[in-house]
Amino acid sequence: MLKPLEWQDRPALIEHLLPVQKLSVESHKEQMSNQGKTLTALGSYWKGRKPLILNKACILGALLPTTEDSLQDLAMFELLMGMDEQSLAIRQGRIKPNTIVQRVSGLVVADWFEVTPEHADVPDITPFDVNDFPCKVIRNNKKQTVIPKLSWRASLSEQQKLHWEAQALPYNAYRSNVSIARRPEELIDEAHRHIWPRINAFYGTNAISFPEFIEQIGIARFGHRPRVADVFCGSGQIPFEAARLGCDVYASDLNPIACMLTWGAFHIVGASPEQRRNIDKAQKELAEKVQQEIDKLGIETDGQDWRAKAYLYCLEITCPESGWKVPLLPSLIISRGKKVIAELKPNATEKKYDIQIKYVKSDEEVKNAKVGTLQDGDIVHSPDGNIIHRVSLNGIRGDYKDGKDNKNALRMWEKSDFIPRSDDIYQERLYCVQWMKKKLKGSQFLYDFRTVTADDLQREQQVIEYVGAHLAEWQKQGFVPDMVIEKGYNTDQPIRERGWTHWHHLFNPRQLLLNGLIRKHSILPASIVGLCQALNRNSRLCKWDSSEGVDAVGDVFYNQALNTLFNYGSRSSEYLSNQIRLDGCKNYPFAIIETKVHSAPANEFPESCDVVITDPPYGDAVKYEEITEFFIAWLRKNLPAEFAHWNWDSRRSLAIKGEDEGFRQGMIAAYRNMAQHMPDHGLQVLMFTHQSGAIWSDMTTIIWASGLQVTAAWYVVTETDSALRQGANVKGTIILILRKRHQHLETFRDDLGWEIEDAVKQQVESLIGLDQSVRAHHPEGLYTDADLQMAGYAAALKVLTAYSVIDGKDMVIESEQPRRKGIKTFVDELIDFAVQTAVQFLVPVGFDKGEWQKMTAVERFYLKMAEMEHQNLKTLDNYQNFAKAFKVHHFDQLLSNSSKANSARLKLGAELKGNLMSGNAEIANTPLRALLYALFEIQKDVEGEDVLLHLMENCPNYLANKRLLAKMADYLAEKRGTLKPSKTFKPDQEASAARILAEAIRNQRV
Ligand SMILES: C[S@@+](CC[C@H](N)C(=O)[O-])C[C@H]1O[C@@H](n2cnc3c(N)ncnc32)[C@H](O)[C@@H]1O
Repeated sequence: MLKPLEWQDRPALIEHLLPVQKLSVESHKEQMSNQGKTLTALGSYWKGRKPLILNKACILGALLPTTEDSLQDLAMFELLMGMDEQSLAIRQGRIKPNTIVQRVSGLVVADWFEVTPEHADVPDITPFDVNDFPCKVIRNNKKQTVIPKLSWRASLSEQQKLHWEAQALPYNAYRSNVSIARRPEELIDEAHRHIWPRINAFYGTNAISFPEFIEQIGIARFGHRPRVADVFCGSGQIPFEAARLGCDVYASDLNPIACMLTWGAFHIVGASPEQRRNIDKAQKELAEKVQQEIDKLGIETDGQDWRAKAYLYCLEITCPESGWKVPLLPSLIISRGKKVIAELKPNATEKKYDIQIKYVKSDEEVKNAKVGTLQDGDIVHSPDGNIIHRVSLNGIRGDYKDGKDNKNALRMWEKSDFIPRSDDIYQERLYCVQWMKKKLKGSQFLYDFRTVTADDLQREQQVIEYVGAHLAEWQKQGFVPDMVIEKGYNTDQPIRERGWTHWHHLFNPRQLLLNGLIRKHSILPASIVGLCQALNRNSRLCKWDSSEGVDAVGDVFYNQALNTLFNYGSRSSEYLSNQIRLDGCKNYPFAIIETKVHSAPANEFPESCDVVITDPPYGDAVKYEEITEFFIAWLRKNLPAEFAHWNWDSRRSLAIKGEDEGFRQGMIAAYRNMAQHMPDHGLQVLMFTHQSGAIWSDMTTIIWASGLQVTAAWYVVTETDSALRQGANVKGTIILILRKRHQHLETFRDDLGWEIEDAVKQQVESLIGLDQSVRAHHPEGLYTDADLQMAGYAAALKVLTAYSVIDGKDMVIESEQPRRKGIKTFVDELIDFAVQTAVQFLVPVGFDKGEWQKMTAVERFYLKMAEMEHQNLKTLDNYQNFAKAFKVHHFDQLLSNSSKANSARLKLGAELKGNLMSGNAEIANTPLRALLYALFEIQKDVEGEDVLLHLMENCPNYLANKRLLAKMADYLAEKRGTLKPSKTFKPDQEASAARILAEAIRNQRV
């Protein structure tokens, strides 16, 4: 049994190893599962969630110790992560004996399997395919041919069966096996049952579940169950995973919506089965109560057994040319799948268009309806079918510039407004209703899109009057918001584009009524969580999605902006009820642990914790502090006790944001506070998304100034082409491991060079060693060049941040110095120096160190990336990362035009042709550029002598570089020779040209 504090001084596993490639695969799988993600059902509007599997790796990696045996450490970690082969077999749904005998060789059938029928004549030894050994049986007095069936012998243990199932995994590659497997978290108990005997034997524990294991290793490391904190908890992804594993967890965030979501993760998803039943029952009753009140008003039924499902609204303007009222419809399609369109019928008496909803027969007719009245910012319509009026919407809105600001003539709405006034530029009208009715048999519904009738309009009027009569009272009681929209990057949009000044303006009368009723009856905290899901799905900002098979009202936060719409969908109470009921929300009951949620700025976090894991705000990714005011406005008053003591204000000014000095100072205050709340042997994991080149320097100053030091760094690819940002960027997460800086060490910059080089060397070599051991048994290794690069950086930062004084300067004071734009600080210089030392150490095989260092940055970059491509690593982020490391500014010039996020590549010599030979291009006038041109010429069948002649002219200092040129050609021949050619990409021809050129250079007499 482990003794208290026995592991106190042992380095954590994550300080020595982390299987980042497998983690990237698993993280990507989780991110791609969209609605299947565990916590998303609580708040699909929260963007930028860190994958649970990555969080689990960080938590376990911070708690587990390292031993003398790295390979065993790795094996245990993979068992705990559900990444070992046996877990994979379970995750794939168990592989059957008939398949095992096909895939595994050398098994004696009689030792492992029962064969039915017994007399079947299958081979004694595997492999074979049972289908090749049909046998005859008599069934019902008839002769039949059957395929033999194998089953495990009854005496075998689960472990023995799993062993062979793991040998029979269908693919060699981890990625392919994972693609057909479930996520480890989906079968926590099942996927981990087999691991405990090995885990207990290795660590000296006595556990059969994660909470038991975590408690025991927590005692060995900290003397008690581990206390984990996340002070930027957001949606609660990190705290939830820590709690699910069995840690005591303390979460906090400045934003009360983040606090609410984290509370939901703990108390709804992590609830006991009984608590969960109560929550589900209460939410069902809430949905029913709301529906009853709506039914009492009779505003969602047609009086003939049909209930409304969705209402479609659009804006309407008066055309200044014709004086006609024109609905603003970007498209007239209502439903592609059901072939429903809106038809505009001119009504000359009223100078407006009646809108008829029509089911059409052909796809052609649907296609013709694609273009509506709004075309490229113009209103286009023709009341008589002859004269077409085309008027710019900008003109109608009266757009103008006031200095740098875009303004217009829209009236600013007042607090009492909830529909447009009759003289407003934008009017709003209902143009279609989707009805639903239960089918006579079963639970399914019939649906029907219909033209708006006089009865519908009368019901609309009834809603308007009802809301008008109650709004002020509801606002007073807090059932409907009365909060002003504060100006900001995202919040300016509804103000500018619609004149909406208060948050309730983002909801139409039906939505105010329905959402307000839900709010009124939301007494329990879980109901508030459900309310926010409903608000996200029932606002004037919800798109109507007419795509094939969809026909649905979308959500406000399909991205992280407050985009206004010309037409939108509004839900009925029936259609909204599954949001209130938190349908699809999972349940993973927690063990008995302590969880707390604070609504506090990170620099005021009050709890003492052993491990702090954070994913701080960085750059301008998501402006949580602005967009969540959409919800805060609804929640400020009358909250259940669990939430009432939080600060229900987004406190924009306290939010850490951007990348400037404010960001740095905010982060220093936060991390300093956390370091102070951590014991001396505590540990921090800091995750951030790799975005700008300045990040290394910023993070280093933050770490330095907080009294922390780096002990390791990792890079995991967590997202691809996400909706968070425009552009085809693959996003990776850098993970820094931090400890308190205990000693007061001093050094000089001149001495740092050697030390960094040594540390980089040691770190890279230890990773390469581990990688090679893994490759000895598996087709895939543990690390790629890019990971080694990251390890190189980490080693450099490790050395740097261990010192308190460099060149006589106190690094805490230096780090606190404000940055001035364009001016390099002492710390910047140190980081540059450290990173360059690290990069330069990583010399590709084929060149010696001296040659490598003499090359220009862009040459090193090109050659390094050729190596990456050879290793089949072709994500764009790799190019970005290496370009930053090598200080190549325009790496895009070297990339093929067809490069995408997941398949980028360099231009070959044949593709560069004569470009970038001279002028400002970084690669111009370099030996490598001359060489690539020569490769182009060889492929163009230029005479060998001429090729060499041109090479001599193009390559500066040819004679001195001759040997290097031949090496470069050899190197490129090798790297390109293995790439797969396509119609437009001919690496094989380039490789063969490079071989010819290398020979020609070597044989050339000059
Ligand atoms: C990148 S997000 C965290 C996302 C989270 N890991 C997840 O998976 O959902 C950063 C969080 O920091 C919070 N934040 C910003 N400034 C803060 C401050 N000064 N103190 C505490 N939290 C802050 C934001 O509200 C946001 O929730």
